[in-house]
Amino acid sequence: MFQIKKRDGLARIGILELPHGKVETPALMPVINPNMDFVSAEDMEEIGARMFITNSYIIMSTKGLKERAIEEGVHSIVGTERPIMTDSGAFQGHMYGKVMVENLDVVRFQRDIGVDIATILDIFSEPYFTREEAEDSVMETYRRGKEAVENFPELNLAGPVQGGVHEELRERSARLMSSLSFAIHPIGGVVPLMESYRFSDLVMVIISSKKGLNPSRPVHLFGAGHPMIFPLAALLGCDLFDSSSYAKYAYDGRMMFPWGTEKIENMEEFSCGCPVCSRYTPEEIRAMPDRERHRLLAMHNLYVSFSEIRKLREAIRKGTLWEMVEARARVRPELLDALRTIGRYSDYLERFEPRTRRSTFLYTGHESLKRPGIQRARRDAERIALEIPRKILPEAEHPYSRTYAEVLRKEKKRFAVNSPLGLVPVELDSTYPFGQSIFPKILDKETEEEMEKRERSALPPIPDEEFERDIEQVRTIARFQFGDGGANLLLRGKVSVVKSKKTGKIRNVMVDGEHILSLRAEDGMFTLKLKGGERLHKAKNLRYRVIISEGDEFIREGKNVFAKFVADMDERLRPADECIVVNEKDELLAVGQVILNREEALSFDKGVAVKVREGNKE
Ligand code: GUN
Ligand code: ZN
Repeated sequence: MFQIKKRDGLARIGILELPHGKVETPALMPVINPNMDFVSAEDMEEIGARMFITNSYIIMSTKGLKERAIEEGVHSIVGTERPIMTDSGAFQGHMYGKVMVENLDVVRFQRDIGVDIATILDIFSEPYFTREEAEDSVMETYRRGKEAVENFPELNLAGPVQGGVHEELRERSARLMSSLSFAIHPIGGVVPLMESYRFSDLVMVIISSKKGLNPSRPVHLFGAGHPMIFPLAALLGCDLFDSSSYAKYAYDGRMMFPWGTEKIENMEEFSCGCPVCSRYTPEEIRAMPDRERHRLLAMHNLYVSFSEIRKLREAIRKGTLWEMVEARARVRPELLDALRTIGRYSDYLERFEPRTRRSTFLYTGHESLKRPGIQRARRDAERIALEIPRKILPEAEHPYSRTYAEVLRKEKKRFAVNSPLGLVPVELDSTYPFGQSIFPKILDKETEEEMEKRERSALPPIPDEEFERDIEQVRTIARFQFGDGGANLLLRGKVSVVKSKKTGKIRNVMVDGEHILSLRAEDGMFTLKLKGGERLHKAKNLRYRVIISEGDEFIREGKNVFAKFVADMDERLRPADECIVVNEKDELLAVGQVILNREEALSFDKGVAVKVREGNKE
């Protein structure tokens, strides 16, 4: 039902297949209130809506509407043939303290009106709930979830995660709900956090929920309708958003922007380029009759929201979502706190961070260095840099080997550059992220102090040594990319390199006359050749392996590995890592590049887990 097409850390471009069609995620579902329609579903489709959400509880409790819905179906009420999700009334429980409906009745009603995704009647955990109260809401939500799944096994059901602001309860709730066959998982109980700008708590809630959720299920952030938090939530792995805010805000004369909210009464000029703001002035809109004003402001809010969704999808495709989130964090201190809070969860996020990106690493502040993928690269490079004596050179223009060509030729020493990304062995100067990074000339204090500290701890002068720089570079990149064990296996024997005639850069690595690795010019990382795979195959246990359960012949022919056939894989592999593909008898079938990490590959039924580069034809 759900598969990943592109990913950037926990963020993903996915395809969600529903009875009324496919939806590309991250997606925003505008809320259609059947009793209060400023903007038609048709108009919203023009603005970018591909899926809608409406409230089955409201339909059920409105005389006339209920009967019409049963007779004509929910699609006729909403006025679209696209997928529709319905909510259950749990939010009305939060607003008014009580709902006059039973779980199974509201789920049955949703089935009867032909929705694409139905929601159980969960219990909204308020942020002020004590641990005990929150635990009760988690357990009751689980009980209702179980009952709904058992009674309506053929229905696509949404199983919300609750638990208030209690980290361990969120994770437990997520595990419990994941154990049932839900189609999607909303993260519930977060509207009060968003309304009061408690974005750090929101980060904690999303991450602890994600930790417990099955990674192959789409995640919906319930009630998230402000474009200000879309990029942050997507970065943490939210795939769906819903917005009634566009209408509520319009009703109060408030306009949404990626940087916050502004009141129409305080505006003199519009800077927004949407059709509404291009056509009218704030004064003209203020002078309009209520209905027309509400409609136009709602349209603006929708234009801005969908534009932000498209922008973040494009950022995921390009691998620039971290930059987008960092940029957005500059518009509100609470968002900056949220970004800083993400740093507390590096160990979890790192598992999903690709080893390389197509985009350049742009330093937009000290927080950029806290990105989990950057911290990992730094740690790995620094370990190599500090292991043997190296002469430390000051930060300079990239590539270091060009800037320092003279020094490198004259002094037969190993070098490391004291860069804002830590101590970088000079051999990694074309490797991601070191070779593909841009820093401001004037750094911030924190980064500068770190660099000064390293400068002072520099080692005493070291004598010259005999070694070949090219081979040293091959070895260092291999260690950085495959670890010491992998580098030893790959490079055992007589190592030589083939260089590009045009650029003089290393292209291929030969060991004992066999082509083992090729160096990608774009990110300075190796791609594994079959002969290299044979060498890594000597590693013990699961190391470097993706084990498939069936379909050997396809993989040997060079077809990609689907997640469905992954029986197990090395948990140290990260997206974009090189790997070997073996069968359950541990016969080498292919070499390739990992798309999913272990926990993802083991839970997805659809989509590619490994892009195969070269099959091992028998
Ligand atoms: N809408 C906003 N928050 C929630 C929630 O926690 N549960 C449900 N069912 N709907 C919501
Ligand atoms: Zn506008």
